[in-house]
Amino acid sequence: MTWQYSQKTTELFMNAVQGKPGTHMGEIDNADGFGEHGSIACGDALRFTFKVERDPGDPRKDRITEARYLTFGCTSAIAASEALCAIIEGSEFTPIEALEITNQDIIKYLDGLPQAKIHCSVMGAEALEAAVFNWAQKRGVDLVELGIDISHDEQEEGRLVCKCFGLTEPYLKRKINELELRTIGDVTNAIKAGGACMSCHHTPGGLQDLIDEVWGRQPAKIKELPVLPMGRETKKAEPPAEMSPYRFAKSVEDVIDKFVRPQLQKDQGNLEIVDIKDMTVYCRLIGACQGCAGGPQTLKILVEQALKDNIDERVKVIEV
Ligand code: FES
Repeated sequence: MTWQYSQKTTELFMNAVQGKPGTHMGEIDNADGFGEHGSIACGDALRFTFKVERDPGDPRKDRITEARYLTFGCTSAIAASEALCAIIEGSEFTPIEALEITNQDIIKYLDGLPQAKIHCSVMGAEALEAAVFNWAQKRGVDLVELGIDISHDEQEEGRLVCKCFGLTEPYLKRKINELELRTIGDVTNAIKAGGACMSCHHTPGGLQDLIDEVWGRQPAKIKELPVLPMGRETKKAEPPAEMSPYRFAKSVEDVIDKFVRPQLQKDQGNLEIVDIKDMTVYCRLIGACQGCAGGPQTLKILVEQALKDNIDERVKVIEV
């Protein structure tokens, strides 16, 4: 399906993948703060790094001067990472002040996110928190003394509830509470739990039980209808029926004409499809995009993602 992104989200994404000045994709060497969240196996991962100007007398007064990210994910994951860096750099936060940034701030900066993509903003806030904890350790700042809860090792410790995404009971309960998640759909949209095989939805001790426990509700007598994986509005869980090679090639052309070329043409660039074999599309960037340093990322993130979102998750794009 096609996600309805705000203009701000699309712009941030496009600028980032083209490596335009002022964007933040990358990694800081010898970073003062380093944090990661997500995993490539689960579809989204973010590595966040920042640099501070050190205060000579009091490390709590260090100021963040530079922030960078490396994100594996979709349009909204890249845009949310850009938003996070822009928010931080724009306000000269101390790392402790940066902990106040929430996923809602990221969503606001992006002028909104589709419900099923809320997890991209949560991923940014989680990676930031991990990076601040890392900075505090390096600079000898006792966050507990400042009243900050750093007991967030639940990702590794505790009963595993959602095996597909490796999420434990303590972590899920904390996020259900912090993000005010009231339904399984909310949980899936925000942190992906329950968005794959769905076997953790109504099993004893599963997502519904945890939601009921956090909000003090009695277990529901009538089971909810299952939530579609990742909030996608597909009518069936299995992959779509195979297309003929002609129909597949036609769909690829249509998606590229509709979603990719207009973006590239804004920068006097374009895309040439060289060949299509099975589910693999061989193509090259032309015009002003030819030889662009961000070319491989544009092909992977913009072109391949558009084809996956609109045709089939199995589509691959190879640069020739
Ligand atoms: S176990 Fe939670 S989605 Fe599969």
